[in-house]
Amino acid sequence: MIVIGGSSSPKLSASLANELGATLARTEIKRFPDGEGYVRILDSLDGQEVVLVSNTHPDVKIIETLLFCDAIEEFQYEKFTMVIPYFGYSRQDKKFNPGEPISARAMVSALEMYPDKVLTVDIHADSTVELFEACEAANVSGVTEMAGKLKEIGVDFVVSPDEGRMKTAELVSKGVGVPSDYLVKERIDGNTVKIEPKSIDVAGKRVAIVDDIISTGGTIITAASELKRLGAGTVIAACTHGLFANDALNRLRPCCDRVLSSDTIENATTAFSVAPAIARTL
Ligand code: R5P
Repeated sequence: MIVIGGSSSPKLSASLANELGATLARTEIKRFPDGEGYVRILDSLDGQEVVLVSNTHPDVKIIETLLFCDAIEEFQYEKFTMVIPYFGYSRQDKKFNPGEPISARAMVSALEMYPDKVLTVDIHADSTVELFEACEAANVSGVTEMAGKLKEIGVDFVVSPDEGRMKTAELVSKGVGVPSDYLVKERIDGNTVKIEPKSIDVAGKRVAIVDDIISTGGTIITAASELKRLGAGTVIAACTHGLFANDALNRLRPCCDRVLSSDTIENATTAFSVAPAIARTL
């Protein structure tokens, strides 16, 4: 087996190759003076089971992913699995207003013709995985890895910031061995969310808020403020995909005692790897 790491997740690709006992392919990734991308795979993939690890975020990585796919097609490989650690555009999984695209479907259409199998990680909506028709597709859950990290840090309670992540919070809390609950969120716009006041007994506790994505931080900031209002002693924000748009990390600091994310998007808060979860599924 040979792993090809796109430029979006080099550490995750190396960890995955290590978990699988696979070779990490040598690659060249650069940009032409006009801004167009260029990739080259420097090892032969002939007769190999190939695993490409590449995000579809930010937009330049979509092109890089497509270029890698085309380069892979030049070899006589055995099987091609595409791992998309962070599936960009997953949140526009339906039309919210007339005239909009279903962006997640556009991504699926662009990518599905190449691999034999696609693996996403903690994708925003499982229904997006079901859109893949030309190849097999499955979503990998990183809850075991997130729970492992939170157990190591030590938390007493796990909270989902909205009903949508309730199941995740339940699974993480089971992994840690503590209770869980959820808050009720209303999204006003892309930057603003409202959390309904709720009575949860978190007084003096070390509480973890878990979510799939932290983007602007609006969801976590509002949820953390509510938990502090309820008397939480320590608030830890944990997510799989740390996007941290609009200086979110600096805005999260005053209300969260710690922020952590996985290595699907490598950044200063990356504290756990989803490589074991991907390796188990592969
Ligand atoms: C929404 O349903 C997601 O699970 C996240 O809560 C959301 O994407 C976070 O975005 P932001 O950090 O901008 O509030």
